[in-house]
Amino acid sequence: MRLAGRRALVTGAGGGIGRSVVARLKNDGAVVAAADIELGAIEADAKICGDLTDTAYCDALPSKAAAALGGLDILVNNAGIMRRGDITHATDEDYALTMAVNVEAPFRLCRAAIPIMAENGGGAIVNTSSCWGVRPGPNHPLYVMSKAAIASLTQCLGRDHAHQNIRVNAVCPNEVDTPMLRTGFVQRGLHPETAIADLDATVPLGRIAQPSDIADVIVFLVSDEARYMCGALVEINGGKPVT
Ligand SMILES: NC(=O)c1ccc[n+]([C@@H]2O[C@H](COP(=O)([O-])OP(=O)(O)OC[C@H]3O[C@@H](n4cnc5c(N)ncnc54)[C@H](O)[C@@H]3O)[C@@H](O)[C@H]2O)c1
Repeated sequence: MRLAGRRALVTGAGGGIGRSVVARLKNDGAVVAAADIELGAIEADAKICGDLTDTAYCDALPSKAAAALGGLDILVNNAGIMRRGDITHATDEDYALTMAVNVEAPFRLCRAAIPIMAENGGGAIVNTSSCWGVRPGPNHPLYVMSKAAIASLTQCLGRDHAHQNIRVNAVCPNEVDTPMLRTGFVQRGLHPETAIADLDATVPLGRIAQPSDIADVIVFLVSDEARYMCGALVEINGGKPVT
């Protein structure tokens, strides 16, 4: 119960990685406010549904979570979207939505959460970047750009708010078996199980990540075991580099 008494807000809590993060935070003793457009059945101490492209929803979310949980010690900016295709196929709407969900929302949530955490003596934030935020992968310039932006924001906030005992770090996964990955296969006319088996063979560890492989690192980063980590971009890739 290394997180007993901690109060956490998780965005994208209804998604593949988000569900696993909520379950693991609760398993370690935290109370959790889950946020997503839709949550369905999920075991959380508060559910705050809304759209992260709604700036007023973002700005108010940390204080709503703090009101529901009695404070806020942990923020996990996990929600994200991936628009596919090279730049000639990117619409204005693709650009605006990618930046709104993957960059502007975490900016707004960090901006609102940090004063709440500072007043309470500190806290921990984990942003979800990607290995493509550190080294670009092919044909996803909007997604890559957005994940590089959140990686950079993490490094900035990691140094700017350490003096307030607020640690800001990011996870940078390679491929994870979630709806985000599977819908991409379906869009390209591939059978998800076959496509995942093919991808497994490209990973030195022998398989792509499961959501729990990422959630465990996120929970480590918010725990006291990571007490000296600030502004780190933690790649979680099974040994598979971006090529
Ligand atoms: N799956 C991968 O291979 C992979 C790799 C690297 C990084 N990531 C990142 O991990 C994070 C989690 O992704 P996932 O793979 O679990 O995907 P997912 O699609 O299963 O989950 C993403 C969640 O974000 C929520 N979301 C999207 N737009 C929203 C909005 N406007 N308002 C509120 N919520 C919104 C969705 O409803 C969904 O529940 C994302 O930031 C993603 O970019 C995923």
